[in-house]
Amino acid sequence: MQVLVTGGAGFIGGHLCRALLRRGDEVTVLDSFDDAYAPEMKRGNLEGLRLRLVEGDLRDGRAVDAALEGADAVVHLAARAGVRESLASPLLYEDVNVRGTLTLLDRMRRRPLPLVFASSSSVYGRREDAHAFTENDDTGRPVSPYAASKRAGELYCFAAHADWGLQTHALRFFTVYGPRQRPSMAIALFLQAALQGQPLPIFGDGSALRDFTFVDDVVDAILAALDRPGAFQTLNVGSGAPIRLDALVDAIERAVGRPVLRHHLPDQPGDVPRTHADVRRAAAVLGWQPRVQMEEGLRRTATAMRAQR
Ligand SMILES: NC(=O)c1ccc[n+]([C@@H]2O[C@H](COP(=O)([O-])OP(=O)(O)OC[C@H]3O[C@@H](n4cnc5c(N)ncnc54)[C@H](O)[C@@H]3O)[C@@H](O)[C@H]2O)c1
Repeated sequence: MQVLVTGGAGFIGGHLCRALLRRGDEVTVLDSFDDAYAPEMKRGNLEGLRLRLVEGDLRDGRAVDAALEGADAVVHLAARAGVRESLASPLLYEDVNVRGTLTLLDRMRRRPLPLVFASSSSVYGRREDAHAFTENDDTGRPVSPYAASKRAGELYCFAAHADWGLQTHALRFFTVYGPRQRPSMAIALFLQAALQGQPLPIFGDGSALRDFTFVDDVVDAILAALDRPGAFQTLNVGSGAPIRLDALVDAIERAVGRPVLRHHLPDQPGDVPRTHADVRRAAAVLGWQPRVQMEEGLRRTATAMRAQR
């Protein structure tokens, strides 16, 4: 199978491209190497991989056409990611994540291919109840432009399915971590600080509950979705085992093998107090289960970071 991966040079994309090539698929990457973080890091993610690279912007229909040539399926990861950054640049997020996604869907309508869309747990907004999030829960109250843009992407995917017959799995990833993670994400910041003996910046009082997902589990879910195209589904992809931020810092101490200093900062706008994936639908539809537990995932991430340094 030939798979187009938009945003394939990014954190999740780099891991996915490796996994696709390992199992014998051909890969095309469409990526603009944007400046959300160091483009050299993204080039490094693709180093040594035998794939076709189309360097271009998702919002440019001609670049998308070139990337789609010969494809049998598409994984759409390209986006401006990150909740906090979206509060500073909402129009940019709307442009890339919504207009960009619609540009891709528009170019795919002439030749509908199975599509896997990278959505996000942020579509569930700020939840006060204690239940795990299920795909039927309300997604009408996003609390950041990023979350709104991901929900809009899902809605356009549904419209493309209804109007043009596009088969789409919208996978709602719950905070993904692992080697070569985006540098602004909590686990990357924590591990970096811990390895350098710096205080860890903790937003809020440490009671926030997060469902963190190891990147290999996310890649497995994407591969399973590619192998089982369906009409249209939204599917949670998380560990199903949320952890308090202060317990995460304890686990970071164990992963790096030394105590760390904690520097508490105020809650950030756009952050939610809790994420928790109910993954039963993904298990039923994709036959997928998360496999990597937090301690193991942190250990592997810390080892990779040490090697990079
Ligand atoms: N990492 C997470 O915790 C997480 C959680 C939920 C959802 N997601 C989603 O998964 C996807 C991948 O996330 P990631 O963490 O790998 O992010 P990333 O920033 O590392 O990767 C995104 C890639 O998209 C590319 N890109 C951005 N704008 C583009 C454009 N206009 N045209 C072409 N390429 C463009 C970037 O250069 C980058 O390589 C994103 O859609 C993100 O919203 C990620």
